[in-house]
Amino acid sequence: MLISGSGSNLQALMDRVEDGTIPGRIVRVISNKADAYGLTRAQEAGIDTLVIDHKAYDSREAFDAALIAAIDADEADLVCLAGFMRVLTGGFVRHYVGRLINVHPSLLPAFPGLKVQQKAIDAGVRFSGCTVHFVEEEVDAGPIIAQAVVPILPDDDASALAGRILKQEHRIYPLAVKLFAEGRLSTRNRTVLVDGQPWEPETALVNPPLPAPLTSAPRRRAGP
Ligand code: GRF
Repeated sequence: MLISGSGSNLQALMDRVEDGTIPGRIVRVISNKADAYGLTRAQEAGIDTLVIDHKAYDSREAFDAALIAAIDADEADLVCLAGFMRVLTGGFVRHYVGRLINVHPSLLPAFPGLKVQQKAIDAGVRFSGCTVHFVEEEVDAGPIIAQAVVPILPDDDASALAGRILKQEHRIYPLAVKLFAEGRLSTRNRTVLVDGQPWEPETALVNPPLPAPLTSAPRRRAGP
């Protein structure tokens, strides 16, 4: 797992490994920042950690080569980005294609990049959420494994919305890793399927809430 900060998603994954929900083992937590709190979380759980400070390298390529060497030494099957705040090179992404996943706090492809909670509020959208996806070379892009949707409320600021979204990240990131570890994901065109199946077609969320006459299907006019 690659982190840069608090590591609350790391914690969610550690908890789900610990309780047996995810059939796997976190072999190492790597941070590009020595003071990332996620390192403390990992150490307290007895997981190996490593700091690879990007400032010690004079190019992105050199930093990514150091990351690859460390990850491959552990023979990790899956690389999870969890609040890892460095853009990775194409070479890194290609090296791990199909086994590199990320969590992002918006409903991609809407609002890639940074400060996305504020961007969603400013855009006036009724919903935002989070996305777990396979990583491709373009930033915050790639086949989507799981998404969760949350409402944006009229009085939300970025921090309130970020908190609401983060709670859902802590549910769908373990879900995505569990499905990957169980070998249940496949990709058809750009769509990631679970057990090869499409899912429930009739689920809809509506904001603002529908008033009574609109909650049921329209009455058909009698035909001729
Ligand atoms: C999460 O919102 C994640 O989606 C974003 O950075 C935040 C990291 O949180 N990329 P944490 O370090 O897992 O607590």
